[in-house]
Amino acid sequence: MSVGVVRVGLLGLGTVGGGVIKTIRSQQEKLSLRLGKRIEIVKALVRDSEKERAVHVEPSILTTNFEDVLKSDVDIVVEVMGGVDPTYDYVRALIEKGCHVVTANKELLAKRGTELVELANQHQVHLAYEASVAGGIPILSVLRQFLRTNDISGVRGILNGTTNFILTKMEAEQLSYQEVLKQAQELGYAEADPRSDVEGFDAMYKLYILAQLVYGESLPLADVVRKGISDLSAGHIRIASELGYRIKLIAQAYQTDEGIRLSVQPTMLPLGHPLAQIQDAFNAVQLSGNIVGDLLFTGRGAGELPTASAVVEDLAYLLTQPFTPHPVWRENTASHLAAQPEASQRSLCYLEGSCPSATPDRVLHFLRAAGVSISKLKVQFDLGGVLRAGLITSGLNEEHEALLTSDFGLSVRRFPILESAES
Ligand SMILES: NC(=O)c1ccc[n+]([C@@H]2O[C@H](COP(=O)([O-])OP(=O)(O)OC[C@H]3O[C@@H](n4cnc5c(N)ncnc54)[C@H](OP(=O)(O)O)[C@@H]3O)[C@@H](O)[C@H]2O)c1
Repeated sequence: MSVGVVRVGLLGLGTVGGGVIKTIRSQQEKLSLRLGKRIEIVKALVRDSEKERAVHVEPSILTTNFEDVLKSDVDIVVEVMGGVDPTYDYVRALIEKGCHVVTANKELLAKRGTELVELANQHQVHLAYEASVAGGIPILSVLRQFLRTNDISGVRGILNGTTNFILTKMEAEQLSYQEVLKQAQELGYAEADPRSDVEGFDAMYKLYILAQLVYGESLPLADVVRKGISDLSAGHIRIASELGYRIKLIAQAYQTDEGIRLSVQPTMLPLGHPLAQIQDAFNAVQLSGNIVGDLLFTGRGAGELPTASAVVEDLAYLLTQPFTPHPVWRENTASHLAAQPEASQRSLCYLEGSCPSATPDRVLHFLRAAGVSISKLKVQFDLGGVLRAGLITSGLNEEHEALLTSDFGLSVRRFPILESAES
């Protein structure tokens, strides 16, 4: 690293890359004073060097050829291009050349983090990825630096801003999923292809990374319970609200006697639960430590500047810290069974159908005879005679669900309930 100047390369100059340049420019004086070095962006890899960009950069900095970044004698590379292919190969080549890497790419870390962490250790370079989980919330640094004595029994949170925005609007404005998705796309909160967000992949990658830090291991991605929000209806949200619950896409990792469980799924939160208060595109992470108790971190989980904030803080941190080996990432392949959701858990069961045999009395009689306990019930019929019912149950299993469909013509959707700490 040359004295006085840090040479930084960017892989990608889109939303986050643009935010990184803006932040470095606006904070340059402060950063120079605190770090004793000026940060200079010397190369930026893009797909299309002719494209109009939100930030002005000298045309000579832009390149469409990765080799130009590799050759440009950079000290640190900020990877904000996303995806795994060809990003993994690029990051690998940079680490092998002795470059420190800062990345916001949760998919890359969740899928290839184990190899990248080992490689970074081997080459004694920093691999920093605060921006990959919950955007501007510095949750990974908190876990790494300030919660080393506590045993963390569980971590849960709202890790995807797009889905939280959609669910908030669906409830507040009583709109359908499709209507709100369209608005979210127009406002730039959702991608043209929203699958990674709405099907829960994005939150799953972040949860995987959190679990690595909390437990020193994670389940293989294929074993994580993952359900998205694309099949949620206004009916689900209305019945939930009438029963005193709010639906959130909750990512959870927690320890059980059989191993760790990881899940991302639409979950019912009592209205008083702290995570039920997290609205719009905000993110939140809740932790339980054996000494400190419950902690809640909240803030903007995505967007140009919140994400750039995490990237530039990582950059500033690694410039002041000597290299120390990263904890090795491990996949716990022994915990397959632990990934299954518990049937005994209290859940909100949503039933919908128009079959004449499906009267509320008959359905309740069937469930009680099958040993399912029901603590709350809300029933609605619309003008077309469609029954919609919400039941707070415990003991409902997949066999009961199948019988409700075959014998009563009901579609069944079961949502786990995240109990409040005090309940
Ligand atoms: N956006 C957020 O709020 C946010 C929050 C947290 C984490 N992240 C993560 O940050 C990363 C970047 O996200 P973003 O929203 O900034 O993406 P983006 O706006 O789509 O920008 C991607 C950038 O990478 C370049 N690029 C993509 N593939 C390339 C390739 N094969 N070769 C060369 N250049 C390539 C693009 O070039 P062109 O400009 O020429 O197309 C573009 O400049 C992703 O990993 C994302 O998950 C994003």
